[in-house]
Amino acid sequence: MHFQWYPGHMTKAKRMMQENIKLIDLVIELTDARIPVSSRNPDIDDLGKNKARLILLNKADLAEEKWNDAWMEYFQAKGFSCVKVNSKKGGGVKSIHAVIQEACKEKIERDRKRGILNRPVRAMVVGIPNVGKSTFINALAGKACAKTGNKPGVTKGKQWIRLNRNVELLDTPGILWPKFEDQSVGMKLAFIGSIKDELLQRTELAAEFVKFMQRHYPGVLAEKYETSEEGEAYAVLEGIARSRHCLVRGNELDLEKASALLLDDFRDGRLGRLTLEYPDQI
Ligand code: G4P
Repeated sequence: MHFQWYPGHMTKAKRMMQENIKLIDLVIELTDARIPVSSRNPDIDDLGKNKARLILLNKADLAEEKWNDAWMEYFQAKGFSCVKVNSKKGGGVKSIHAVIQEACKEKIERDRKRGILNRPVRAMVVGIPNVGKSTFINALAGKACAKTGNKPGVTKGKQWIRLNRNVELLDTPGILWPKFEDQSVGMKLAFIGSIKDELLQRTELAAEFVKFMQRHYPGVLAEKYETSEEGEAYAVLEGIARSRHCLVRGNELDLEKASALLLDDFRDGRLGRLTLEYPDQI
């Protein structure tokens, strides 16, 4: 299978990021808790050097709790602040304010020594498409926070959201381009729906997903679809099609439909909380 992101999008995203990153003190990087490494673009480490860094395991509600904790330890051991969040429901979002202060304490101390008091920390949210950046910004900013951009004395064109006395957030998130060089990374991004399905052969993708489930979560597919999950991946897809009455032309099994159903069930959490990569394999 071949995955790609258009080079034009990548160049634009990179340019925007380079411009905006100059304005900020703190990079808040969203990852998908189901694939915390594959949903990152490591180029951010270079772009964001000399900035305070906070990594969020977003969509933590869809990933296994024990792995969320293991991933938090992994990132903390690398020197990042790390918090697991569910931006959709707001879980974990409140605790971020304290973590931001902690992550920026060196900058605050530097300012204090120079006699600069109460200058708010400026932050930007970044992440690959669909990781939940807009949802997170809405959850963090809520309704109460007025935009502070486009006023005299404020950089023209940039909108800052004043979160509280101490923090301002750039209202447009930075888009990181996903990295597909590694096939297995592309595959995992496709599983979670980061790459649009029409770009791919859905049945082939679903078959790869079946193989992953057979290896890492035995029993889940059998129970959910009341079918055998043993043997060849396409046979399992046929079993799902049969069990869910995915048929074409009367009685032919519709594997395309069964594949879409399986992937949607996974993406919406209907197969339970699943993590697709593990710190000990990185
Ligand atoms: P982006 O700005 O990074 O591109 O992502 P965006 O906020 O648009 O979020 C992409 C999808 O991820 C949205 O779903 C959003 O609801 C969902 N999402 C964001 N954060 C979380 C989370 O913590 N947990 C879960 N379960 N989902 C999250 P959508 O299908 O586009 O819309 P809808 O289903 O919310 O209507």
